[in-house]
Amino acid sequence: MKITVVGAAGMVGSRVVNEAASRGHDLIAVFRKQRPATLPTGAVAVEGDACDPDHMSILFNGTDATVVATRPAPGHEYTAVITTLALLDAAASARTRILVVGGAAPLQIPGYPDRLVVDSPEFVPRQSRAIAAACAAQLDVCRAHPANWVYLSPPAVVEPGGRTGIYRRGTTTLITTADGASRISAEDLAVAVLDELENPCEDKHITVGY
Ligand SMILES: NC(=O)c1ccc[n+]([C@@H]2O[C@H](COP(=O)([O-])OP(=O)(O)OC[C@H]3O[C@@H](n4cnc5c(N)ncnc54)[C@H](OP(=O)(O)O)[C@@H]3O)[C@@H](O)[C@H]2O)c1
Repeated sequence: MKITVVGAAGMVGSRVVNEAASRGHDLIAVFRKQRPATLPTGAVAVEGDACDPDHMSILFNGTDATVVATRPAPGHEYTAVITTLALLDAAASARTRILVVGGAAPLQIPGYPDRLVVDSPEFVPRQSRAIAAACAAQLDVCRAHPANWVYLSPPAVVEPGGRTGIYRRGTTTLITTADGASRISAEDLAVAVLDELENPCEDKHITVGY
């Protein structure tokens, strides 16, 4: 496949680039300020702002899929909706599938289907409320958009770690382990992203975790 990764220098985006390259895909790695430190064979780095739908549409044209792994800087969380809308517009214009790596915020709490992570202080500490609210709004933007999108909610914690290739996949409920932990390594999140691109499911909102 030919895949564009937007936010390619970030924690998640850089792992997606590496995972996709290791599977033999052709890549366009889109960065804004900071060029990816290293790029695997098969990846081409292109500078661009995700909020520029015309430029993004040109980059997406002729590709099979786009992965969105952008994250607004602290204090600019409100821009997540603007960025996502621009990328959805660009993907629709280029007729390419778009996978948005979003947040855990819009997931339901296991055992409490009426409660969302975004409203749960045990999962969202005060300092993370703005990005959680932005991620919930980001999914609303996707739901209202005609683009061919899928929204991947990570578990509560994503950190750099090892690649095991083993994870569980769900839809709209947070995945937790028996001790209540909800996590995945950024490397295994990238595995899940590529698995979804290579074998698309019918669900529009999916999640993964250990
Ligand atoms: N538990 C959770 O819900 C959870 C945990 C972790 C991550 N995530 C989600 O995963 C996604 C990726 O997060 P991350 O941790 O990988 O973020 P990150 O390490 O901060 O990387 C984000 C990247 O996006 C780029 N970016 C931001 N705005 C852009 C724009 N307008 N145009 C082009 N590039 C832009 C940034 O580039 P610059 O250097 O130019 O700013 C940065 O390289 C986010 O949606 C985040 O919310 C969710």
